[in-house]
Amino acid sequence: MSNYHIKHLEEYYQVYRKSVREPEHFWEEIAEEHFLWRKKWDKVLEWDFTKPEIKWFEGAKLNITENCIDRHLATRGDKTAILFEPNNPEEGAEHITYRQLYHRVNKFANVLKEQGVKKGDRVCIYVPMIPELAISILACARIGAIHSVVFAGFSATALATRINDSDCKMVITSDGSYRGAKTIDLKGIVDEALESCDNVETVLVAKRINSNINMKEGRDKWLQPLLDKASDQLKAEVMNAEDPLFILYTSGSTGKPKGMVHTTAGYMVYTAYTFKNAFQYREGDVYWCTADIGWITGHSYIVYGPLANGATTVMFEGVPSYPDFGRFWDIVEKHKITQFYTAPTAIRALAKQGVELVEKYNLSSLKVLGSVGEPINEEAWHWYNDNIGKGQSPIIDSWWQTETGGIMITPIPYVTPTKPTYATLPFIGIQPCLMDENGEELKGNQVEGRLCIKYPWPSIARTIWGNHQRYKETYFSAFNNKYFTGDGALRDEVGYYRITGRVDDVIIVSGHNLGTAPIEDAINEHPAVSESAIVGFPHDVKGSALYGYITLKDVGESRNHDNLRIEINQLISDRVGPIAKLDKIQFTNGLPKTRSGKIMRRILRKIAEKDTSNLGDISTLLNPECVQEIIDNAL
Ligand code: WT7
Repeated sequence: MSNYHIKHLEEYYQVYRKSVREPEHFWEEIAEEHFLWRKKWDKVLEWDFTKPEIKWFEGAKLNITENCIDRHLATRGDKTAILFEPNNPEEGAEHITYRQLYHRVNKFANVLKEQGVKKGDRVCIYVPMIPELAISILACARIGAIHSVVFAGFSATALATRINDSDCKMVITSDGSYRGAKTIDLKGIVDEALESCDNVETVLVAKRINSNINMKEGRDKWLQPLLDKASDQLKAEVMNAEDPLFILYTSGSTGKPKGMVHTTAGYMVYTAYTFKNAFQYREGDVYWCTADIGWITGHSYIVYGPLANGATTVMFEGVPSYPDFGRFWDIVEKHKITQFYTAPTAIRALAKQGVELVEKYNLSSLKVLGSVGEPINEEAWHWYNDNIGKGQSPIIDSWWQTETGGIMITPIPYVTPTKPTYATLPFIGIQPCLMDENGEELKGNQVEGRLCIKYPWPSIARTIWGNHQRYKETYFSAFNNKYFTGDGALRDEVGYYRITGRVDDVIIVSGHNLGTAPIEDAINEHPAVSESAIVGFPHDVKGSALYGYITLKDVGESRNHDNLRIEINQLISDRVGPIAKLDKIQFTNGLPKTRSGKIMRRILRKIAEKDTSNLGDISTLLNPECVQEIIDNAL
């Protein structure tokens, strides 16, 4: 059991040093002792960041679902694997044991096979937070189909773009979804999306809200009758270590979303190992991550990481405000949650509600609190620590990305002393560094720069689906022989890292990673709009909110600006999703541009942040005169 469960700080340093000195040996030991392999690897690691090419455990054969389900049956068959907490608390929780999960995944996998899905095919999963979401993911993995989950809050346009990009032949969805007191017509969104997706042959529909929906002859099929007929036995497909497990889209600063490709063995090893340590998971714990499985957080730390450890993982369908703002704490008390993992935006929203709603509940089961998705500000950190953890449960501020597959910088609870707003130390095996703008590494402590990683770790995304060149340019070209994260960070006097935020045009709103390009594209579709630029500005709940600068075609146009604002936000909502709506819209006569025509977002960002004291040299702009006008009319 060497090195699998870190218990104190000295051990951390000792294991960390080993993982850096002999990475291959280190990961080989972890892989060897804690997983089920059909065949062991020929080589632990092969890598070249210039191509870039990264391969872990080449030659090994396995199926990740045998590691997440089958191998637990002998000892944990009757233990709850997935604890489903529905939107409406009165519906009552559902406990799915490991044995039930095994049967349900097998049935689902058999249905996929009958419907013609084969190893390597892409399947789009557009399902709300109901058990079928986790089960369909595992069913794909069981037969070697590549799942591409699209968050079920995305619009028809966003869904269609993703379906087409990875050429999915099947979509799995539900009739609709619950969201607090509202229902959402998911199937309607799928129907609209599929008008522009010619290659989708089959749509499987789970029943959740019993709404009246259209079923297209020959294409759409109700899931339940197919499951009822299917066998609950199925031999898992034997996969190669580097076979793709899934695609998950993330926004870039330009262009269409990037389909990050994660492969099988390395992803499994790293998510399982980080889950065990970053949450100090122990048998008997009830672990709850509040994220949606539509994001990487849910893939790695609701589904794969916890199940690979034989844990009980909670899936919550609802929202923090329904039936009231005490819902999270009600769930913690009811299920005696031991590890609670959420996002700063949720903490800030709940902190606004006052502590009475917290004090009603017994939160004494909690041992570890987690935060992820964006920098956690000092005030939110203390509120979380004082009111939820009662000063007793360490907060792990965990930094990572869709691209990294697993947690990269984090305190290990009860091991690493925490410090508010600091993600603290690199996880075992992770070699971060800070770079200056000239591409030089900043050595020593008390430095600030761009955060890069020097050496591969097992769960790094291997490519962008269909566009390896873009993968290389985005992550491996900014700094020689290093993975560039897109984030800025500082390292304090003891070597703790603090993530300071994105240094590119990605904006994190309520923990959701939004690229500027698709939002600007949506705005520019409006017939009255000539061009637009969006930037983030500080927001007390969302972390950052969106500020749009929009130039109209006919500047003298007499159209009502408030109506235009509503129309533009509606377009964004339709094209990208409601989370991307603009909080502020300023109509301008022009946008500041470089001589090569690139919009100077840096200046617009400063104006949105109300920090115009130091705009830098604007004399080199193509149109410096527009800057003063924008400042004068800023919102
Ligand atoms: C970006 C990645 C990783 C799962 C959720 C987001 C920001 C994430 C932290 C943190 C400061 C953070 C970074 C990163 N971020 N966690 N603990 N402290 N910033 O995944 O959508 O791929 O976004 O989220 O800017 O690059 P994602």
